[in-house]
Amino acid sequence: MTDQPAPVPPADPGAPAAPAAPAAPEAKAAKAAPSGSKTGAAAADKIAAGYAFAGEALEFGTVIIDGTAYPEARIRVPLSMMNRHGLIAGATGTGKTKTLQGLTEQLSAAGVPVVVADIKGDLSGLAQPGASNAKIAQRSTDTADTGWAPTAFPVEFFALGGVGSGIALRATMTSFGPTLLSKILGLNSTQESSLNLVFHYADQAGLALLDLKDLRAVIQFLVGDEGKADLAQLGGLSSSTAGVILRDLIGLEDQGGDQFFGEPEFETSDLLRTGSDGRGIVSSIELANLQDRPQLFSTFLMWLLADLFHELPEVGDVDKPKLVFFFDEAHLLFDGASKAFLDAVTQTVRLIRSKGVGIFFVTQNPTDVPDAVLGQLGNRVQHALRAFTPDDAAALAKAVKTYPKTKDYDLAEALQQLGTGEAVITVLSESGAPTPVAWARMRAPRSLMAQIDPAAQQQAIAASPLQPKYGQLVDRDSAYEKLTARLAPPPAAGGPAPPAPSSPSSPSAAGPKPSGKPAKDQPSAVETVLRSSAFKSFARSAATVLGREITRGIFGTRRR
Ligand SMILES: Nc1ncnc2c1ncn2[C@@H]1O[C@H](COP(=O)(O)OP(=O)(O)OP(=O)(O)O)[C@@H](O)[C@H]1O
Ligand SMILES: [Mg+2]
Repeated sequence: MTDQPAPVPPADPGAPAAPAAPAAPEAKAAKAAPSGSKTGAAAADKIAAGYAFAGEALEFGTVIIDGTAYPEARIRVPLSMMNRHGLIAGATGTGKTKTLQGLTEQLSAAGVPVVVADIKGDLSGLAQPGASNAKIAQRSTDTADTGWAPTAFPVEFFALGGVGSGIALRATMTSFGPTLLSKILGLNSTQESSLNLVFHYADQAGLALLDLKDLRAVIQFLVGDEGKADLAQLGGLSSSTAGVILRDLIGLEDQGGDQFFGEPEFETSDLLRTGSDGRGIVSSIELANLQDRPQLFSTFLMWLLADLFHELPEVGDVDKPKLVFFFDEAHLLFDGASKAFLDAVTQTVRLIRSKGVGIFFVTQNPTDVPDAVLGQLGNRVQHALRAFTPDDAAALAKAVKTYPKTKDYDLAEALQQLGTGEAVITVLSESGAPTPVAWARMRAPRSLMAQIDPAAQQQAIAASPLQPKYGQLVDRDSAYEKLTARLAPPPAAGGPAPPAPSSPSSPSAAGPKPSGKPAKDQPSAVETVLRSSAFKSFARSAATVLGREITRGIFGTRRR
């Protein structure tokens, strides 16, 4: 036997990297519980007892009392409660992103697919193993994270409209719908209801609007000479309001908005994948390039959620969620939102949990989230809050009120004293009751806590199995024949006989997915619109006609 070193199994996840590191000078030894802190240890144990769950759980970290970490006192959240939604809040630089990174890793390891909105690009680090250092080693000790080892996770990168580093994520205009589009365009309520009418008109005719230009064409048609009669039937759309909407649409187009709307449309079921190793795939939506377009990206994320809601079956209570969605910079979603929009968010959040989807809103201040939504977020991770201004102080007081009563901490003080990567936590226990309030030191992520090398990211994107499906924008210049072929006439409708079969099914990805509903079910209103020759000539140059009515869900997004 030679002394040849045995081949080290690469990246053995069981290898505890941290303890092997020599004690670095700057790493303060974990504060041994000082004498006389028996009360501290007892309090920590008592809190931790509220987090001793029978089933699988995700680890946040361990209890801190009077500045001392108690590694035996673990703070966790049941995996089965991750669809009861959550809030991760805190001032800038306090550890929100690292908290969601750590949760994402554990969800993936448990086989749960995750969606993260990567606003700053730093979440791309999930795809590469992290590196230990003295601080990480100390944190592992404090948080009883003996298994800490650098670990990479399976990440799929997406980018809205392909703008940025990721697989292109697009929606058709029809699918997006009037409520979300109004939010992007910043329409007032009169304009919003006018836009609703325009979509209603197109929906009745089964007219799938693919991109911004199609929508613009419909409005132009309606306010033009040919569309006068149809417009009169619709009622309520003034040409001056239509003019404003048109201008806004053109503005959006000029800013490159056309890249986000069109085909191939993203199928949200692609967010629900697990890898061959059983780990959940993390879909990281790369938004760093869109930081100056917050309305666009926050609304687009909402479209993903609304579409998921309509696509997924009811599952009731689950052992583990089907998907967890981390909505970073969530205040952007609520800024300037109309009542209709807020109601739709509230309802989606309420109903989506029975489909096994958990949503975590991540934002600086809990007051960024409307009460109706906040009330539904069962799991709370509050990082440090600052109280510089009277508004800050009011927000702090409000945050305190959302926590169960505690004798262990003065919450108003604790929330200001929390260190980086520490948080005040309460979650739902397996029985659905809130757990005791805990000041916790959070575990360190095992993947890289930084942006990965752009070249490595590009490589991953190029190699993605989704690339063939979404990589290429459908060329609409040559779409005319396809559109003509898809022009499915309703029974008894006169006019040119296109070669399309009467069934709406089509191999093309264009337009809404076939529902299998026979064309004869369509309401006569559809026939009326379709029969008008003005409409026919318009539709042929504008978009795809399915010959059946398009139905919309809670959010005004299309139901497939
Ligand atoms: N759980 C943790 N483990 C190790 N380090 C952490 C942890 N949480 C925070 N840190 C440290 O604090 C820094 C800031 O954390 P993070 O980026 O998560 O803040 P943030 O609240 O998301 O800030 P912003 O609002 O600016 O996005 C990290 O770069 C890291 O060095
Ligand atoms: Mg952050």
